[in-house]
Amino acid sequence: MADKKATLHIEGKAPIELPIIEGSEGQDVIDVRKLGANGFFTFDPGFLATASCESQITYIDGDKGILLHRGFPIDQLANNADYLEVCYVLLYGEVPTRAEYEKFRTTVTRHTMVHEQIASFFHGFRRDAHPMAIMCGVVGALSAFYHDSLDINNDLHREITAFRLLSKMPTLAAMCHKYTTGQPFIYPRNDLDYAENFLHMMFATPCEEYEVSPVVSRAMDKIFTLHADHEQNASTSTVRLAGSSGANPFACIAAGIASLWGPAHGGANEACLKMLEEIGSVENIPEFIERAKDKDDPFRLMGFGHRVYKNYDPRATVMREACHEVLEELKIDDPLLDVAMELERIALSDEYFVSKKLYPNVDFYSGIILKAIGIPVSMFTVIFAMSRVIGWIAHWNEMHSDPTNRIGRPRQLYTGYSQREFKPLHERE
Ligand code: SDX
Repeated sequence: MADKKATLHIEGKAPIELPIIEGSEGQDVIDVRKLGANGFFTFDPGFLATASCESQITYIDGDKGILLHRGFPIDQLANNADYLEVCYVLLYGEVPTRAEYEKFRTTVTRHTMVHEQIASFFHGFRRDAHPMAIMCGVVGALSAFYHDSLDINNDLHREITAFRLLSKMPTLAAMCHKYTTGQPFIYPRNDLDYAENFLHMMFATPCEEYEVSPVVSRAMDKIFTLHADHEQNASTSTVRLAGSSGANPFACIAAGIASLWGPAHGGANEACLKMLEEIGSVENIPEFIERAKDKDDPFRLMGFGHRVYKNYDPRATVMREACHEVLEELKIDDPLLDVAMELERIALSDEYFVSKKLYPNVDFYSGIILKAIGIPVSMFTVIFAMSRVIGWIAHWNEMHSDPTNRIGRPRQLYTGYSQREFKPLHERE
């Protein structure tokens, strides 16, 4: 425990000593748990200055634009490991030996099929249903298939759950796409690697052989890595809070998918590409920059700004490099990239954005790569969800591995009526 203390002096009250706990990186925390016994709650809507838990998975330094997964910088992981190796690091905390990696990869590969009855869930949706709506439904439905074989207090059961989710999310995601296009579902193939398999399930048809482009699968794999985890973001916090009641992990992941869907969070990649398409050309950028600064206009630059990063999102840097590589290698001349680059240049020199420390985030360039790969815009957040499932499950697992873990139950600042008498309707008339 830390030796440092904060002393709270409140008029008419004895000073309250609060322990300060030091982390290995980043801000220390003031442990306010005993404030309740002293008649106070802390008040922090949106959790701008609240640490909800202790974690060892991911560290972000928003001012320096640093993102570490188990201590490894995101650019080193994205450029030197594949997504499954990053998943291993996030889940187990250390890099795998070759044998450990091969065993992990084989286990994931051999659990990619979903129960045939899951396919019937899709047929309850309209063909034009948003793929994220379908994902919320079918991932939540997995809890009906894996409820009995699951003791969340059993390490091995939790590990099996991690494998099931990591293995089946690409299959379900590709099924969403196939369902909305009216094409038949394509089964996973064990001879393909993780990204190749996903792309094959997305774009192959029973009518002919489908060759996965190595350029595209490499870019896809890098996108998975760049979205894998991001400490206590809204959707991860949702999974933790849902999981804290002991709920089935598949239901908790469905809750995370629902939270990610919002345009302020994972839905920003879809919204960002639509924004770039609405801007259309470099000439129109100034008008949209002015709209983003206008307090009376709800328009915001999607893919810009971040609760934590007050510097360049390191993932956006890697994503921008990958964007150039993919478009160059695929010989795609997408005018949206010119619009994005010019929008970034103008915004980063505009006093409004500079003063508010608004930089491109992970969602700013991802949409351009996904579009180049051939992923429909409505599937962008589904890609984010399937990439982020390893982060969600790593945090869920970390929470349940902590024997001191308790149900999350925030309090409130109540400003409603004090007690008053209720008169029955006949007395009120
Ligand atoms: C993700 O948390 C995570 O880690 C999330 C994520 C992850 O990996 O899990 O990184 C993924 O969600 C990235 C963010 C994707 N969202 C967007 O790109 C949507 C656009 N961005 C904004 O909605 C906003 O920046 C948020 C939601 C990302 C952050 O919101 P905050 O922290 O609550 O900040 P804020 O809304 O209070 O903004 C601070 C100021 C405000 O102006 P003032 O009221 O101070 O005058 O900056 C302005 C905002 O109006 N502002 C913007 C802006 N973002 C913030 N103005 C114009 N365009 C923007 N994009």
